[in-house]
Amino acid sequence: MPSKHFLDTQDFTKAELLELIHLIGVLKEADRKGVRPKLLQDASLGMIFEEPSTRTRISFEVAMTHLGGHALYLKPGEIHLGERESLYDTGKVVSRMVDGIMARTLKHQTVIELAQASDVPVINGLTDYNHPTQVVCDVLTMLEHLPPGKRLEDAEVTFVGDATNVLSSLMFICTRLGMKFTHAAPERYQPPQEWLHIAQRNCQESGGSLRVAEDVRTAVHKADFIYTDLWWWVGQENEIPERRQAFMPDYQITAELMAHAPAHCKFMHCLPASRGVEVTDQVMDSPASIIFDQAENRLHTEKGILVWMLYPRLKRPTEAVRQAAMNNVEEALSRL
Ligand code: CP
Repeated sequence: MPSKHFLDTQDFTKAELLELIHLIGVLKEADRKGVRPKLLQDASLGMIFEEPSTRTRISFEVAMTHLGGHALYLKPGEIHLGERESLYDTGKVVSRMVDGIMARTLKHQTVIELAQASDVPVINGLTDYNHPTQVVCDVLTMLEHLPPGKRLEDAEVTFVGDATNVLSSLMFICTRLGMKFTHAAPERYQPPQEWLHIAQRNCQESGGSLRVAEDVRTAVHKADFIYTDLWWWVGQENEIPERRQAFMPDYQITAELMAHAPAHCKFMHCLPASRGVEVTDQVMDSPASIIFDQAENRLHTEKGILVWMLYPRLKRPTEAVRQAAMNNVEEALSRL
């Protein structure tokens, strides 16, 4: 586990990401048997949220409990985040008291600065640039639902819709892992050149492929997984009419669009979804939909990421050291 922080899957090699995903799978398998090893006994995770969350908040909090640790929910208005105290000072102080920090921040630069200040690992729980914990979960979910006979490197993933922070992360991890990735969107909502350059460099190293297209029906033609995300987010309310017009009806995931993909093709969404907007109820609730497996996998993924990042850094004293420390404590107590 070479990088101290988990801010971007680009900070990790293919081998490291596969090692992480293997660990997540092992922890999930153990959990299925009712085994929840307390690998982070007594550890604390500070969870900083500048935006609301259902999956990220619950999965990290429950993961820490399963692992024998504890999570604190910290949000603006309840801590001095960027107001009355600098981000640097907040990062320094929080990291002196906890074993890890998970942060969902409005700006990507904020999580970078938090990491620079922090003495403990910082995990990116979504920024305006990327969502790395989500896409590790997504690859695990794809591995579990690969068509028979296909390897991960054979898998074709088509993301339909806006070039969101989830699109960037998914494009980066899929191309890093040597998968075949297509983004289908109107030209205006396609990824910026710098994102495409990152993904193209990944493909050169991994043997993966990258395609960006406007024709959505051709884009899904060989897809093993069709993935979509919201067409607008908080702060983009004034763009709703033009975005709706750009994406509707061609880029909405409908049963008719799914019929252009192979019969085994699965539907994915990071959630929350706007039912009836980027995807119909019929697809969300169809046998092809694996959205709730995907959502559950956030829990297993956070457990794996937390163990991967935090476990090697926790102090595990020998019995002799523990006993000597306890003797000192008992001696101090006897003076009371
Ligand atoms: N997918 C995801 O991150 O969901 P939340 O916003 O509910 O955390």
